[in-house]
Amino acid sequence: MKSVLVTGGAGFIGSHVVRRFVKEYPDYQIFNLDALTYAGNLENLRDIEGAPNYTFVKGDITDAIFIDELFTKYRFEGVVHLAAESHVDRSITDPLAFAKTNILGTMILLNAFKNSWEGNWEGKRFYHVSTDEVYGSLGEDGLFTETTAYDPNSPYSASKASSDHFVRAYGETYGLPYVLTNCSNNYGPNHFPEKLIPLFINNIINHKPLPVYGDGNYTRDWLYVIDHARAIDLVFHNGVNAETYNIGGFNEWKNIDLVKLLCAIMDKKLDREAGSSEQLITYVKDRPGHDLRYAIDATKINKELGWEPSVTFEEGLDATVDWFLNNKSWLEHVTSGSYREYYDKQYNSELE
Ligand code: NAD
Ligand code: DAU
Repeated sequence: MKSVLVTGGAGFIGSHVVRRFVKEYPDYQIFNLDALTYAGNLENLRDIEGAPNYTFVKGDITDAIFIDELFTKYRFEGVVHLAAESHVDRSITDPLAFAKTNILGTMILLNAFKNSWEGNWEGKRFYHVSTDEVYGSLGEDGLFTETTAYDPNSPYSASKASSDHFVRAYGETYGLPYVLTNCSNNYGPNHFPEKLIPLFINNIINHKPLPVYGDGNYTRDWLYVIDHARAIDLVFHNGVNAETYNIGGFNEWKNIDLVKLLCAIMDKKLDREAGSSEQLITYVKDRPGHDLRYAIDATKINKELGWEPSVTFEEGLDATVDWFLNNKSWLEHVTSGSYREYYDKQYNSELE
């Protein structure tokens, strides 16, 4: 049985990856290693937690001794590495936490993988899941390709860029077999409500202000999370060693247009008067170093591996809103406790 470690599998994207691998590959033993930070939630995996090919391990990727022992014990042939601090706003208030988890944590995993196989690389693969934010900001035109120069602007994107460099350095220096993907903004079920779409869904449900940063004319390229998990599966199995693939939705939206679309969908679903949720829009102070525009050219993964998004944005957003409306207890659980403290610190002085 092939032994595959997924890191960060209790988080948003990781939980969709774990579910897909557990269901699609009954002959793999899938280990989900997660520290269960504020963003990790085992409720995301309730439906598969009893599967015979699934094991959860609670642990921190920055704990080198623990990670070395884990790799020695289970001899992971594949690693799909998603564990990270992932929220740009948190990286602005606590940059060192991002350096620790995203850079040091990635290095500790690379080192443990290298040491556990000592050059016997046949059939082994380290998959590093990264972001389009490493490329910095686009102007009004152009797209990020796999050869766009790195130019990160936030502590989050700088830490992810650094981790990407270490993955490639381990490939060059030690021959460690890897693949790397840089993906655009994901959305969908289980998205933690500190990020734009789930935060605004939660606030609309609760008649709370919708804090749009700056003038709202920032652009992101949105991809349904299940399509990202499909792409990760494809690249893990069919991607060429030491290659990078960009993943995106071919789906650019200015924040303010997206928010208005979301408001319209929610008014209908909540049986509220058309236009009522839009009245919650509140322009607030901009994010420092806010990147103007991200947009991915996903031609390479499309042409070489045959991947493309399976749903339109309208379908994905509709399904996402339905998921949140049908899973209010999930929202209530993740928005209690430390979430409230974060929210008050991040927004309340501006919204009151
Ligand atoms: P998330 O914040 O929802 O989940 C991160 C998970 O990692 C959580 O379960 C958390 O408990 C775990 N974790 C954090 N620190 C850890 C540590 N020290 N040890 C072990 N586990 C730890 O993040 P996400 O949005 O699911 O993103 C997953 C990955 O995908 C990240 O590497 C992120 O950079 C990348 N990515 C995210 C997006 C996006 O739009 N969300 C887009 C492109 C790439
Ligand atoms: O591009 C991929 C990246 O997408 C991932 O690597 C990150 O992990 C993920 O968090 C996401 O980063 P963004 O900063 O683009 O996502 P966020 O949802 O935080 O913000 C999306 C846009 O909405 C951005 O322009 C900032 C804006 N925004 C966000 C929040 C939380 C607001 O206007 N108001 C808000 O309250």
